Amino acid sequence: IVDIQDKIDHELLSHDQIMEKISEAAQQASEDYAGRVPLLVCVLKGAVNTLTAFSQAMSIPLEMDFMSLSSYGSGTSTSGKVTVRQDLSTDVRGRDVLIVEDIVDSGVTLSWLVNELKRRGAASVEIFALLEKPARHQVQLDVKYKGFVIPDEFVVGFGLDFDEEYRNLDSIAVLKPEVYEGELA
Ligand code: PRP
Ligand code: MN
Ligand code: MG
Repeated sequence: IVDIQDKIDHELLSHDQIMEKISEAAQQASEDYAGRVPLLVCVLKGAVNTLTAFSQAMSIPLEMDFMSLSSYGSGTSTSGKVTVRQDLSTDVRGRDVLIVEDIVDSGVTLSWLVNELKRRGAASVEIFALLEKPARHQVQLDVKYKGFVIPDEFVVGFGLDFDEEYRNLDSIAVLKPEVYEGELA
């Protein structure tokens, strides 16, 4: 039996800390979007847990849709190229879109998505990002609803993966160095 807890070096953010931060941002968004019906766009796969918590903490009518984007593959650093694995089923023309994302690392994924949603005719595009890693930002990005600023460490959990695993961890953590072996310089 291999327990994922045995792979963790240290926890960065507990489940309770995560839920509290998400709920603050969701309450602010509920006020800001009151009277409108925002379209929450979940950036799969990483944002799956964040979308669930964020949408359940919002108190106004909303819609949600899902787009699966990939820029990482199996490594720990961005390829710089965004691949659409699965597109939205909603026409975003005239919609107030609120992107829900797990992490802004280089910013490449979200700057591509913001651009793409505007190109498709969204009335407005804002972002909630649970995590931001300023040390790695390559492009400037306007994140209206902010979560945690984290150090330049490769983190997993609450949707974030290493080589597709560890998304089911309910906190955010750094894995033991041997797990990343051959990946990190
Ligand atoms: C990760 C993460 C963000 C993106 C952030 O996704 O979930 O979507 O990278 O990195 P960036 O700011 O450098 O673009 P990934 O490509 O690993 O796909 P996944 O969500 O399916 O894990
Ligand atoms: Mn992602
Ligand atoms: Mg990933």
